[in-house]
Amino acid sequence: MLLPTCHATIPAARWHQIIEPLTAAAKVELWLYCPVTAEPMISGNKWMKLQYHINLIQQQQYRGFVTFGGAFSNHLAASATAAKLAGVSATAYVRADTIDPDNPTLRYCQQQGMLLLATDRATYRRRQQTDFLAILAKRHPNCLIIPEGGSSTLGAQGIASADLGNTPAGPANILATATASGGTLAGLIMANSQATKMNNQVKDIIGLAVLNDSGLHDKVAQLLPACFAMAAPWRIIATATGHRYAKCPGEHIEFCCQFTARHGIAIEPIYTGRALYKLYQMIAAGEFAPGSRISFFHTGGMQGLAGLLYRKLISFKHYQLLSAAAAD
Ligand SMILES: Cc1ncc(COP(=O)(O)O)c(C=O)c1O
Repeated sequence: MLLPTCHATIPAARWHQIIEPLTAAAKVELWLYCPVTAEPMISGNKWMKLQYHINLIQQQQYRGFVTFGGAFSNHLAASATAAKLAGVSATAYVRADTIDPDNPTLRYCQQQGMLLLATDRATYRRRQQTDFLAILAKRHPNCLIIPEGGSSTLGAQGIASADLGNTPAGPANILATATASGGTLAGLIMANSQATKMNNQVKDIIGLAVLNDSGLHDKVAQLLPACFAMAAPWRIIATATGHRYAKCPGEHIEFCCQFTARHGIAIEPIYTGRALYKLYQMIAAGEFAPGSRISFFHTGGMQGLAGLLYRKLISFKHYQLLSAAAAD
């Protein structure tokens, strides 16, 4: 595996202990790990997943990169920002029939200089196939291909720089994160495997899957170099089944608004809100032993709120409440 020689930046982060009647009743501690980035569009897990890719582009003097995402993708917004800051070109294959000029995410990406190519679903499904990637390599010479979500082994290595296991109260024994393309979960597994060597291993790493993707377990495993694959205890838990990804059930939106109002930390209903909602259900069901210390990764994603409002999936009132807290 090609490792960049530049060091990844260890992200600055804030910790928040979340105290609720629920956590008190279950006798568990819940901590939120919130990375702090100067650029709100590269918040949460985004810079961690992109940093090694950008380093590699600069070291190998690539012209830029090609990547993939849905029409409201946080990854596209983040990678467009990163490309502009790094002064490299960015092209994105967007899962959409047309590039809607009023879509707030796509408009933002174009403003950063990203070239957007509308891609039908059948073609988009080929985004990981070797023959398709070979065609893209020819079509975009001297460009790095960054997988959807930034979820490559390099992306996972960037996530492994997050010190999620060490809360201000001491080591966590459970790590949890929203998971979609798998890079974030793979990074936590890598970091935990490294911690194993220092006898500081967490007991349970939980990926709360926001997509119904039966291949996710294999995707995560494939991102792990062989030395990591066996070391860490990890599992994937489905969040609300029966609700499609990016459709916001009312209870998730309410949960996000109430959580944000109570704790002053904004969450959104596609990733962090959906995952935390499930984690709360697991705590309530007594799935964690008393004394457990859970560390939850706040992976950002607040740019997606504008797209939810645009598609009328959240009300203006909810949008205002959540985005105002996000801007604090
Ligand atoms: C806000 C947010 N949280 C969590 C995730 C899931 O991360 P991953 O795709 O690495 O599984 C994503 C997708 O990148 C995201 O945008």
